[in-house]
Amino acid sequence: MTQIQSGILLEHRRFAIFIEAMIQGEFDAIRQGCKKFCQSLQELKARFPDAGLGATLAFGHDVWRDLDCEQGAAELKPFVPLGKGLAPATQRDLLLHIQSLRHDVNFSLAQAALTAFGSAIRVEEETHGFRWVEDRDLSGFVDGTENPQGDVRREVAIIADDRPDAGGSYVFVQRWEHNLKQLQRFSVEQQEQMIGRTKQDNEEIPAEQRPITSHLSRVDLKEEGKGLKILRQSMPYGTASGKHGLYFIAYCARLHNIEQQLLSMFGDRDGKRDEMLRFTRAVSGSYFFAPSQEKLLAL
Ligand code: HEM
Ligand code: MG
Repeated sequence: MTQIQSGILLEHRRFAIFIEAMIQGEFDAIRQGCKKFCQSLQELKARFPDAGLGATLAFGHDVWRDLDCEQGAAELKPFVPLGKGLAPATQRDLLLHIQSLRHDVNFSLAQAALTAFGSAIRVEEETHGFRWVEDRDLSGFVDGTENPQGDVRREVAIIADDRPDAGGSYVFVQRWEHNLKQLQRFSVEQQEQMIGRTKQDNEEIPAEQRPITSHLSRVDLKEEGKGLKILRQSMPYGTASGKHGLYFIAYCARLHNIEQQLLSMFGDRDGKRDEMLRFTRAVSGSYFFAPSQEKLLAL
């Protein structure tokens, strides 16, 4: 079985660091950087075995086409704005996603990454995520409940077969800023109708009892009777007094699944938009491809 990058399928990690960067150096420096980074990752895993550390390096369309001469990642493309700009595009070249049980260990790996890539990259955004109480998003709703579990995670997130991109995964990241004061203007019942689940007990509201504009109805999509599944690894981020929200990240063996959900949320499928947009807004958006571990080391 192809070896996949260690940050993709992890479960129940408590902290994450997300770094989005542009590439400004020679591709050779990027190739070397990837190798050095993987070495630092191995060293930190060995030094802190209980941290459950994992990480993913992923590349934007333009960079990937230049780095990789073989076919593969055919669905990869730059992210473009959706919903007449409600979902802005900030397509970056490189994504680093670090997850573990320890923020201090994550921070050490982030520092090692900056050393590994040096002046070959220019960091545009660095976000520190944390798991909030009871796996809740800062809106107060439990996030991640319907995520694929166990072996299904690999089926959903990782490209199978003997294709040149086997073991890889498409990635989408989108940082959201919540307006919690605005959210609190709605009654709990109204909030539950926006999401499509109850707040305290996290029970699904049946499809026929929730609006077609509820978050669940926007993203729980089927094609030819089959659910369009994705694997989410999002985390809350930010400061209590300042900006805060959800750093959304999804992995999938097909970019198509993620894209269809986005089109549906931002009104580009049937003209209807996700009710969540009444209290939160997307401020970034990029598509990436995370190659298999073998491929990453062989670039
Ligand atoms: C489900 C919150 C953005 C895809 C959920 C749930 C919550 C939630 C509370 C219900 C519990 C669960 O199953 O996880 C949020 C928030 C977002 C956000 C606060 C941003 C502010 C997105 C985006 C996508 C997405 C951008 C897709 C591109 C999904 C999917 C489900 C889900 C696929 C599971 C639906 C099901 O099968 O029941 N989200 N979400 N979410 N969300 Fe989101
Ligand atoms: Mg469902």
